Amino acid sequence: MTKIKSIGVLTSGGDAPGMNAAIRAVVRTAIFNNLKVYGIYSGYEGLIDAKIKEMTTKDVSNIIQRGGTILGSARSDRFRTEDGRKQAYDNLKDYKIDAMVVIGGDGTFTGAGIFSKEFDIPTVGIPGTIDNDLFGTDHTIGYDTALNTVVEAVDRIKDTASSHGRLFLVEVMGRNAGFIALTCGIACGAEAILIPEQKTTFVQLVEYLNDRFAKKKSSGIVIVAEGDESGGAYKIAEKLKSASGEQFDIRVSVLGHLQRGGSPSAFDRFLASRLGVEAVEALLENQRSIMVGMANQQIVHVSFSKTIKLHNMVDPKLMQVADILNI
Ligand code: F6P
Repeated sequence: MTKIKSIGVLTSGGDAPGMNAAIRAVVRTAIFNNLKVYGIYSGYEGLIDAKIKEMTTKDVSNIIQRGGTILGSARSDRFRTEDGRKQAYDNLKDYKIDAMVVIGGDGTFTGAGIFSKEFDIPTVGIPGTIDNDLFGTDHTIGYDTALNTVVEAVDRIKDTASSHGRLFLVEVMGRNAGFIALTCGIACGAEAILIPEQKTTFVQLVEYLNDRFAKKKSSGIVIVAEGDESGGAYKIAEKLKSASGEQFDIRVSVLGHLQRGGSPSAFDRFLASRLGVEAVEALLENQRSIMVGMANQQIVHVSFSKTIKLHNMVDPKLMQVADILNI
């Protein structure tokens, strides 16, 4: 039998659409199982500052469709220090919180892994990040919505690109991961896709675009993941201009944080709801230091260390798919 009587839930790192649906599922599953449940505000920062409040089922009504996170989020430097984590632990003890559910990405799970090793606080993670870069789960909460937002934005840019015969460099999010770039590049029929996981030399890119434009194209889209080694879209645009002898009429569009906002898709709401229930049930079954995820339509439990270290890899076949469809 579990000793857990009360749990805390927080969201940390970059917010992602669907986080609210996950909070709602955690709160309601905890109450369903006769546990007390506390919302911790502003991620680990709020844990250190004791920004903690007991949640009722009403507190999470009418939020499933809302983007962002009602609990707020932060990237906490203080939680990286021993003093910060000790303060966080003391607050959990004060509130008699026995276990935690943390919703976020690799930074969130790294912090949770260290914390639960130092102190005896069982912790389960729910993958919430638009980057989709956590190993062990096919999708992270927020990725599907962000992808659809990007596709809609690029479709609009394509209208103006073709009207003016321009080449657009569109920069999308993903510091270390090219999932959004690669998938949206294929979904939008982009002329080229630059991602951190694949080396594309600049000469290759110019040759490739020259070839495409010489054949038939009068306008085009290049998707650039923000983490690509050749630099951001502005830098690449400058280099392209000089390398191609100004033959392309180039414009740049950096989509930025609009990719993280908006109402979550049906898929993200469903995933968040399913994983929220699973996270609480996993704690009740005495699981700790794991992420709950979904792979091949089955619930999976993946250790924090594995999901962070192994980092989800993009499928190299997808770059080939993009090339084949671009002849
Ligand atoms: O981790 C999610 C993410 O949106 C990344 O894609 C992006 O690089 C980063 O967060 C931006 O972080 P911030 O909002 O703190 O600038």
